[in-house]
Amino acid sequence: MTLYKGKRRTTTALVLSMGLFFAALLYLPGMLPFDSQVTDSFFRWWVVHLWVEGVWELIMGGILSFLLIKLTGVDREVIEKWLYVIVGLTFLSGVLGTGHHYYYIGVNKIWLIVGGIFSALEPLAFLAMALFAVNMYRKGEKKHPNKLALYWTLGAAIVSFVGAGLLGFAHTLPQTNLYTHGTLVTAMHGHLAFWGAYAMIVLAIISYAMPNMTGRKLYDTGRGRMAFWFSNVGMVGMTVAFGVAGVAQVYMERIMKIEFMKVQEMMEIHFYILIICATLFTTGILMYIADFIKHGQPTDEALIKE
Ligand SMILES: [Fe+2]
Repeated sequence: MTLYKGKRRTTTALVLSMGLFFAALLYLPGMLPFDSQVTDSFFRWWVVHLWVEGVWELIMGGILSFLLIKLTGVDREVIEKWLYVIVGLTFLSGVLGTGHHYYYIGVNKIWLIVGGIFSALEPLAFLAMALFAVNMYRKGEKKHPNKLALYWTLGAAIVSFVGAGLLGFAHTLPQTNLYTHGTLVTAMHGHLAFWGAYAMIVLAIISYAMPNMTGRKLYDTGRGRMAFWFSNVGMVGMTVAFGVAGVAQVYMERIMKIEFMKVQEMMEIHFYILIICATLFTTGILMYIADFIKHGQPTDEALIKE
């Protein structure tokens, strides 16, 4: 309603509202009841996949271009041209890429080919997004003082490319997925992808919006910087631990056919490393939350300064 009432109907606002509309629409296929597990799974992926690899890229692209327009000072026309490229690549690859969930669930074999080809193209949308953010940052005058929002914005674009794009591609082909499906290789991809594409972009828009709403200039605090680096280094460490454990698990469980619990025991060391990295990650997040609680409330003092 805010977008509708606003006088300026920009491409950014259009892409964002399209994303939100499709997110609501694509909730529905998951609610259809079926007797067959295969048919049920077929439509369930319309919700899960088309949300995470279709419409979320529109929502993320919309928020990203808004932040880049505000933070880098590059012209709206230039940024929105890139947004069209991202939307195009998302639809080209993401929609038929749904096939990577249909490999061995009992549907037609054609999905092996369709899913393999189109999901292999999916990293392109994320690559475009990362190039877009970094190029706009280089081009811009960088006059905006909110460095923390800029960190999170660029971080979101780069980490989602690595986590969702590259690590997703690592196990998306049917030949690979036959072995890696449902192992810690999925957890490796899932953690970094979700962190980059979902969490970091939300933390970016909070970092941008909060100082505007409270009037406090939380642009470059020590705790804010530490929150960024602790959480990111922690998450990268967790991803590496998951990856090493995952590859070992695939080999031992699926090739050497060693029993599941025996393999878990042999991989124990990786989980200790995972816990250490997760502690670092959590410390960073707690710092972010501490800043949020301490400075997030608008007070009279803050409003007067504004
Ligand atoms: Fe998917």
